[in-house]
Amino acid sequence: MSAETTLLILGASGDLTSRLLLPALGQLLTLEPHRRIRLRGAGIDDWDDAHWRETVRRSFESAGFAAAFDAIAETTYQRADITDPGDLARLLSDRDGRLALYFAVPPAVTKAACEALVGVEIPEGTVLALEKPFGVDEVTARALNATLERLVPEAQVFRIDHFLGRSTTLNLLGVRFANRIFAPVWSAQHIESVVIRYDETLGLEGRAGYYDRAGALADMIQSHLLQVMAILAMEPPATLHERDFRDATSAVLRATHVWGGDPATASRRARYTAGTIGERQLPSYADEPGVDAARQTETLAELVCEVRNERWRGVPFTLRSGKALPEKKGEVVVTFRRVNHVPEGLVGQAPGSVLRFSLGPDHMDLELNVNGGDDPFELERATIGADLGEGALKAYGEVLSGILDADATLAVRGDAAEESWRIVDPVLAAWRAGEVPLEEYPAGSLGPEGWPVLP
Ligand code: BG6
Repeated sequence: MSAETTLLILGASGDLTSRLLLPALGQLLTLEPHRRIRLRGAGIDDWDDAHWRETVRRSFESAGFAAAFDAIAETTYQRADITDPGDLARLLSDRDGRLALYFAVPPAVTKAACEALVGVEIPEGTVLALEKPFGVDEVTARALNATLERLVPEAQVFRIDHFLGRSTTLNLLGVRFANRIFAPVWSAQHIESVVIRYDETLGLEGRAGYYDRAGALADMIQSHLLQVMAILAMEPPATLHERDFRDATSAVLRATHVWGGDPATASRRARYTAGTIGERQLPSYADEPGVDAARQTETLAELVCEVRNERWRGVPFTLRSGKALPEKKGEVVVTFRRVNHVPEGLVGQAPGSVLRFSLGPDHMDLELNVNGGDDPFELERATIGADLGEGALKAYGEVLSGILDADATLAVRGDAAEESWRIVDPVLAAWRAGEVPLEEYPAGSLGPEGWPVLP
C-alpha cells in the first residue's frame, strides 16, 4: 500500500509523543479513515520496531481509537541522534510520499537538529513541525527562523500552537464575520474591553524542567493567548486560506503594544503558595521538586495590551493565565459599550452587553439588558446561551491534520512568532529588573488580593 504521507516523529520515545501526538493521530485516522500514513519513529532510546508498534498501539487504545492502528500503512522505529547530520540524512532518505518531520523534542534539541539539517538534502515538499516554545525571546526566534529559511519554504514550517486548532477559537470567526449584528460593531467605537483568560487548576505536574524557565507569560500569553487575540482583532480577510488568514493575524500582532507603552504598569505576576484545590493539596510552587525559587518564576501572569490601529485604539485587551486556580476557566469576554441614551421611563442600570465564549466546554453566552418580568419598565439582565459542541477533532488532531495536508493556516507564521516575543520581551525585562513585584496567592484561591476582578 502506498502512503500519501510519511510522518516521521523525532523524539518518538518521549512523553509528548505517547501523551499527545499519538492519541491525536489515532483520532484523526478514526475520523478520516481515507488517510494513508506511514508512521516512523526515531529517538535516542534503543527501541526496536516491536516496542514502537506496541507504544503506538497502546496510545491509540488508551485514547479510545484502537481500530485506527490498522489504518497505518506501516510503522517502524530507528534509533538515531537527530542532531547528527549523518543520522538525519539516513532518516530522510527513507520515505514514501510527502515527508512530515515532527520535532517532539525539547526546544534546544529542535534547534540543534534544525542546524544539523542545513547540510542535509531535504526532499521537496517536506513539512517541518515544531513544538512551542519557539525561541526564548525575539532574538532567538529570529535566529531559528533564519535557520529554517535555509531548509524549506515558510509555508512548509508549522510552528505549532494547539489553541489555533481549538474549535472555540475558530468559532470566534463565524460569530463575528457571519452575523450582521456583530460584524459592523466589532471595533473600539462599540467595544469597551476584551478579556482573554485561561485559568487552570493544574499545578506544575512534574514539568519543572521546562516550566521553571518559561513561566506563565511565556508558556501561555506569548503563545496561545496572543494568537487568540489576533484572531479576535483581525481585519476581515477575503478568505480563510493560509495567506489571507495569516496576513491578517500577523498585522494585529505588529500593531500590538503593551498598554500605555509601559511594561511595568501593564503587567502583573504572581506565584502560588501551598493550598488546596478540591481534594488536592498543592505544595508551594517554590518547594516543588526541580524548581529554583530564586528564578522567581511566575505561575500567574496578566498583561494588558493595545492594538494600535484605527479599529482598536483605546480598547484594553487583558490577557491573563495561571495555574493552581480554583476552577478551569478559559474565556474570551467581549464587553460592549453602553448605549448613548436610555429612554427616560426605563428604570435601572444598562451596562454594556457582554459576549462570552468559553474555551472548553465550548459555549457562548450573550448577556443583554431586557425589560423585567415583574415591572416591564425595569431593566434586567438576561443571557442567551448556546452550546457550540466540541468540533469533531480535538485541538491536536486539527493541528496534525494541517501538517499532514501541508496546509499551514492553523500554524504560527515566522513573523508572528517574532512579533509575539517583541510584545512580551519588554515585560520580561521589566520583571527581571524587579520593576513589577512577584506577588503570591495560595493554590486554590482566585489570585492575589487587589488584582482586578475580570468580567
Ligand atoms: C500548553 C502549556 O501549551 O497548554 C501548558 O504548556 C498548559 O502549561 C496547556 O497547561 C493548556 O492547554 P490545554 O489545551 O491542555 O488546556
